[in-house]
Amino acid sequence: MDSILVTGNGPLHGQIPIAGAKNACLALMPVTLLSDEPLTLTNAPRLSDIKTMTMLLQSVGAEVTEMQDGKVIALTSHGLNSHTADYEIVRKMRASNLVLGPLLARMGKAVVSLPGGCAIGARPMDLHVEALEALGAQIELKDGYLHAEAPGGLKGAVHEMRFASVGATENVVMAATLAKGTTVLKNAAREPEIVDLVHCLRKMGAQIEGEGTSTITIEGVDRLHGATHQVVTDRIELGTYMLAPAICGGEVELLGGRLDLVGTFCEKLDAAGIDVQETPNGLKVSRRNDRVRAVDVTTEPFPGFPTDLQAQMMALLATADGVSVLEEKIFENRFMHAPELTRMGANIDVHGGTATVTGVERLKGAPVMATDLRASVSLILAGLAAEGETIVNRVYHLDRGYEHVEEKLQAVGAKIERIKSQ
Ligand code: UD1
Repeated sequence: MDSILVTGNGPLHGQIPIAGAKNACLALMPVTLLSDEPLTLTNAPRLSDIKTMTMLLQSVGAEVTEMQDGKVIALTSHGLNSHTADYEIVRKMRASNLVLGPLLARMGKAVVSLPGGCAIGARPMDLHVEALEALGAQIELKDGYLHAEAPGGLKGAVHEMRFASVGATENVVMAATLAKGTTVLKNAAREPEIVDLVHCLRKMGAQIEGEGTSTITIEGVDRLHGATHQVVTDRIELGTYMLAPAICGGEVELLGGRLDLVGTFCEKLDAAGIDVQETPNGLKVSRRNDRVRAVDVTTEPFPGFPTDLQAQMMALLATADGVSVLEEKIFENRFMHAPELTRMGANIDVHGGTATVTGVERLKGAPVMATDLRASVSLILAGLAAEGETIVNRVYHLDRGYEHVEEKLQAVGAKIERIKSQ
């Protein structure tokens, strides 16, 4: 397995282009299952998770073709021949569960393995199941698979989710586009990826209102037609690279960056002493003083602080002046980067869902282990600011979510290289 060698070397200067959002693209690709006409996605990120979704869609009979080196994905689903999402593919990535709603709506049946993905908590499917049952689906768990059926078709309903799950919102919105009648989804997730999904579905003829708010109303239609859609900018890649000059000093412009995508993340950066300015091409980030200040962070659904930026923020706060308290409210086991950062000299005390970070003068390079996608990149950020060399081992998770990470960071002056496994 490859590893990444990072050498701490001072301030970063230059520009980093931000790719299309992995999480938006993973929800947009299954949209193909709802229509027999072509769907073309532009600005797609080149990531292994996207390849996993391609394999999954092909396994049920969709045609998926990558163009322009993977930046454009053409999808067609006129000859679907299976309604089963196999464990061998689903175990690699939780977002595979996003085929459940569309398969059920289009084929009246779906058999989807319970998912895998990052080992950051229990990540059950109960909210997806409850919401689809409200639309008339009958769902049973057998041999590790969800067996879903809607013999008479899905029917619109009013449903309030117990928690604003991103994936469950996406599954329900997709399924409800082809249901009979009106669906009102309350306590829906408000993430930009959901807004992007709705924009694409609307281009295909879906009747949806309320995206970006906690009530989404979907009027079912008989069929959806083809469309071309540009995937929204990746707010998590954006936030991650905003933290690079915050941690190392210097000034970096994030091309394609937008303030509306990062919610309250920017307020926390400001409180820590980081300047963020809008430019004609994106966002420019720099540190006001040599050291940053401690801030308390609680992860929440959008527009609150994203759980997917918590590990990277911890890397920043590891060398802040003062004590920061980080509360993880979305996933119960998402501090696996803490012991790795501690190996680099950070002072972090974890109790349940709370991590107390006492800033140290400087981190020191060390061999560390990447435990999940966002943890991997937090260790790279920490390594950029540490004294000496850091080797991040087991980086396969990184390639699931960050395209060309070494090239992007090298372009702003970072010393980072990939060591290929033999
Ligand atoms: C999506 C993102 C992921 C991000 C997460 C939270 C994708 C592909 N992934 O994941 O990067 O970290 O949102 O912003 O978009 N839950 C249940 N029952 C369910 C579903 C979820 O209890 O049926 C729980 C989960 O265990 C977790 C919380 O709800 O604790 C949030 O999950 P959810 O919003 O569904 O996240 P995902 O859609 O899986």
